[in-house]
Amino acid sequence: MSSPLILKRVRKSFSTQDGPIHVLEDVTFSLKAGEMLAITGESGSGKSTLLHIVGALETSDGGEIRYGDYDLSNLSENQRTQFRRSMVGIIFQQYNLVPSLNVLANVRLHARLAGRDDRDWTRYLLDRLGLDSLAGRYPEQLSGGQQQRVAIGRTLAAKPGLILADEPTGNLDERSSGTVFELMSDLAEESGASMIVVTHSNELAGRISRNLHLHAGRVE
Ligand SMILES: Nc1ncnc2c1ncn2[C@@H]1O[C@H](COP(=O)(O)OP(=O)(O)OP(=O)(O)O)[C@@H](O)[C@H]1O
Ligand SMILES: [Mg+2]
Repeated sequence: MSSPLILKRVRKSFSTQDGPIHVLEDVTFSLKAGEMLAITGESGSGKSTLLHIVGALETSDGGEIRYGDYDLSNLSENQRTQFRRSMVGIIFQQYNLVPSLNVLANVRLHARLAGRDDRDWTRYLLDRLGLDSLAGRYPEQLSGGQQQRVAIGRTLAAKPGLILADEPTGNLDERSSGTVFELMSDLAEESGASMIVVTHSNELAGRISRNLHLHAGRVE
């Protein structure tokens, strides 16, 4: 089940030897349950940082972040772990597949952790992602594009309400990138999830109805 996401004046800075750098300044936006949003912006504009904060991988310095009943700026470490495990699915540019598990086991991994392992949905995903004939293979035996599809399948299999994808097709050629991007959005929509997808590509962002552009940590 998906819930509304609300960010109000979210701020984040990192301290470095040369003093603090302000990475996000007063970022405000909201997303309805089941809505899709693309985030674009130049390198270093704060896109990944924003995604990490929404996914409770990182804390903000100020502002409000709410997802359904969760007040993300006010969670204990345990609650954050529980939130990550049960509410969000994160797709990174690096696939982070488990090398010792085959494709099927990788795809089921997060679903099992979230207690939502659903055989029929998993089988459907493997089929849609073109992975059923590869189910017994290990990550090292897959091409980059195949690993990417496994990473997408693994996230979707757990049926998270909120999917966060950071340059999910960044390592693919333009054509496969478009196809995989479309497939990922379709499957996310079918599962009823909201999705925030970071991309450098205006072309890909154009396939998503809502776009948000970050410039030096601010929404433009
Ligand atoms: N842990 C950290 N410590 C210090 N600075 C950081 C840290 N993480 C990110 N930054 C800085 O924050 C800024 C934003 O980084 P971020 O990774 O969010 O950018 P991005 O928009 O995702 O860029 P890209 O398109 O290159 O992935 C950059 O200047 C980066 O150097
Ligand atoms: Mg980034």
